[in-house]
Amino acid sequence: MWDPARYSHFRDERKRPFFELLARVDVDAPSHVADLGCGTGDLTRVLAERWKGARVYGVDSSAAMVEEARRRPAPESLRFEVADLAGWEPPAPLDVLVSNAALHWVPDHGALLLRLVAKLAPGGVLAFQVPANFDAPSHRHIDEVRTLPRFAAKLAQVRRGHAESIAAYEELLSGLGLVVDAWETAYLHVLPGEDAVLEWLLGTTLRPVLAALEPEEGRAFLDTLRPLLRQSYPAHARGTPFLFTRRFVVARRGR
Ligand SMILES: C[S@@+](CC[C@H](N)C(=O)[O-])C[C@H]1O[C@@H](n2cnc3c(N)ncnc32)[C@H](O)[C@@H]1O
Repeated sequence: MWDPARYSHFRDERKRPFFELLARVDVDAPSHVADLGCGTGDLTRVLAERWKGARVYGVDSSAAMVEEARRRPAPESLRFEVADLAGWEPPAPLDVLVSNAALHWVPDHGALLLRLVAKLAPGGVLAFQVPANFDAPSHRHIDEVRTLPRFAAKLAQVRRGHAESIAAYEELLSGLGLVVDAWETAYLHVLPGEDAVLEWLLGTTLRPVLAALEPEEGRAFLDTLRPLLRQSYPAHARGTPFLFTRRFVVARRGR
């Protein structure tokens, strides 16, 4: 379902939040670090580079992404595996658990965070970033097209991404005894190329939708969506402005 080349299309825009998240993770010499929903593993390699003494695990449920992640040589300390992040068990308690732009695909963040916190070592840090664009015109248009009679039955079971508010994350995690730093940032990307917002969505949000449709239905879906996106996101000579909000949480477990 995931396409590494397509996801990498807007690489700079997609990786910036990871570095902004990581800048708030103050851990000196961790032994075990995980990147859940690691995708192509480029950012997992950044973790292995930053903490050279740590064992680093990149975990993703997409075999295509993990295959891509394994393509480049990696240090001994870095391992990629195919697994569902909700059920994955680390070989040892984690000093750092990072997840960039992945948890929004997993339902029930209350239960999920409880499981993730249980994987932390005493003093360990959970750091994640999730997109929070679900009420933006882009997603509203996807929902409009999803519910058209032609597509509705096939797409009824296809999960939408979701994120809790930063206030809810703070409450959940402080309730589990962690010290929480949470914030939200809106990026105004000016995307290059034709139908740039559609291109962006094809790398992420539209993957599960198109996977549930026959190729011809998928083409019809995109043909219906394209003009709606063009109207809400007009292209200019400088590119297409695309406002994108993301939520960040860095939470430390007590010792
Ligand atoms: C938007 S990509 C982000 C990839 C990487 N973290 C990055 O920032 O470049 C989301 C990734 O989450 C993975 N993913 C989605 N649901 C998952 C799950 N339940 N378990 C593990 N990985 C999952 C997808 O396969 C995809 O590679």
